[in-house]
Amino acid sequence: MSAIEIAVLPVGGMGTRFLPATKSVAKELLPVVDRPLLQYAVDEARAAGIEQFVLITARGKASLADYFDVAGELVQTLAERGKTQELEVLAAAQLPPGAVMTVRQQQPLGLGHAVWCARNIVGRRPFAVLLPDELLWDPAAPCLKQMVEAHARLGGNLVATMEVPAEETHRYGIVSPGRSDGLITEVRGLVEKPAPGTAPSRLAVVGRYILEPEVMDELGKGRRGAGGEIQLTDAMAELIGRQPFHALTFTGKRFDCGDKSGHVIANVALALERPDIGPAVRAWLAANPA
Ligand code: UTP
Repeated sequence: MSAIEIAVLPVGGMGTRFLPATKSVAKELLPVVDRPLLQYAVDEARAAGIEQFVLITARGKASLADYFDVAGELVQTLAERGKTQELEVLAAAQLPPGAVMTVRQQQPLGLGHAVWCARNIVGRRPFAVLLPDELLWDPAAPCLKQMVEAHARLGGNLVATMEVPAEETHRYGIVSPGRSDGLITEVRGLVEKPAPGTAPSRLAVVGRYILEPEVMDELGKGRRGAGGEIQLTDAMAELIGRQPFHALTFTGKRFDCGDKSGHVIANVALALERPDIGPAVRAWLAANPA
């Protein structure tokens, strides 16, 4: 087992950018090609050796927990019809009994509050956080696997980052960098959505974290930050200087699937990689230039 045993998946957001779909479908169950965003995050965590998952769901989002049930009737029907390929697809996605725990976030008070809702399950161990609406894609070196390996050497807290254009820094949590050694950078400070022109770097935090349990103590203080929400970035910033804190630069692809264009781009990009549908999508794109 990995030194990081447990992952928190905050999926309690309202997903307003995908209305009306998100009236009845959780954003995290929207597919990229044929797998829900949630499945990509779970698979990335499993590739990092993580076997326990805490879903932070919310009112109206029970379908996220249902997704991990064994679909008994479906499995039986597929077996009767000899649909072995489809059965293999289901089996590969299935988590073992007891692997998924769910907690309800009673009010959407922000990402930090969602993470804090997992405190009694996480306990006093380091834990991972994955935001499933950010699809980080590098099948050869999945982001969280790289982070777990780095954490084994560095300890403390670790965030995944990517370089973004200067004109986009105001949309992200931005790292104030210290010493850098290749893909690992010391974090001296963190600023949530800095005003244009004030960002301390172009290193943006991208939805993957390994955190020490002390972050829960900071979140428990209930301080409100940007947008009146309890911000994970603010609680993490309190740990800088008290514990090791590093950023790992992810060099794979990132798709912001919480955003409509990012979601469409992810579908096209991953479809093009697929041997079954890639040729048809490529041919359509070639025949329909913008
Ligand atoms: P977003 O900022 O994308 O918010 O949350 P959202 O509500 O999901 O989507 P929009 O902006 O209304 O379209 C980032 C992540 O944090 C989770 C979301 O589910 C998503 O994974 N989140 C956010 C919570 O779990 N609880 C919250 O109170 C807020």
